Amino acid sequence: MDSDFLKRVSLKPLDSSHLGYIVEIDYQILGKRRHSFWEKKIRAVKSNATSSGIVAELDNKVIGFILGVVSGWEFGVPASVGWIDTIGVDPKYQKRGLAKTLMRELVKNFREAGVKNIYTLVNWSDWDLLQFFRRMGFTRGDMINLELKTR
Ligand SMILES: CC(C)(COP(=O)(O)OP(=O)(O)OC[C@H]1O[C@@H](n2cnc3c(N)ncnc32)[C@H](O)[C@@H]1OP(=O)(O)O)[C@@H](O)C(=O)NCCC(=O)NCCS
Repeated sequence: MDSDFLKRVSLKPLDSSHLGYIVEIDYQILGKRRHSFWEKKIRAVKSNATSSGIVAELDNKVIGFILGVVSGWEFGVPASVGWIDTIGVDPKYQKRGLAKTLMRELVKNFREAGVKNIYTLVNWSDWDLLQFFRRMGFTRGDMINLELKTR
């Protein structure tokens, strides 16, 4: 945790003006520029009252973000469940407590919305994310992911 660094960071609600920064962070992480994917996703977050998007800014530039949603009844899951959709931190600023700060803010928002349980899905091979969520106190849940390949 780099507290001097974190003091210079401000958290803000996600906005369509953050699109370019998020595309760039995603590119730094995954190596692809997915402009229309993120444009749709940000629009979906902004148009859904139960969705929450938070960005972390340093010197007015977005360096990390987290997206989540409070579930209605779906997959047999009650409305008191919050889902973490995506989290991403610019690789230049990783390992300094930024994701933890974003996560705490989202958890606070979720609590205020009445969320009792938080779920997320992580690819089994995504070691960074698995380690991060483990450090944040996540454990394996009761649901399992089923898959049918159509070809
Ligand atoms: C996972 C990720 C969000 C972590 O961000 P970060 O800002 O470096 O995380 P933090 O510094 O806040 O770390 C919080 C805790 O998790 C731990 N942690 C984070 N990444 C870790 C890793 N790769 N291995 C082990 N522990 C890790 C930290 O040690 C810290 O533990 P502590 O609280 O006991 O000190 C970041 O690596 C990332 O963005 N990865 C890519 C995620 C992705 O694919 N997103 C989709 C595309 S945008």
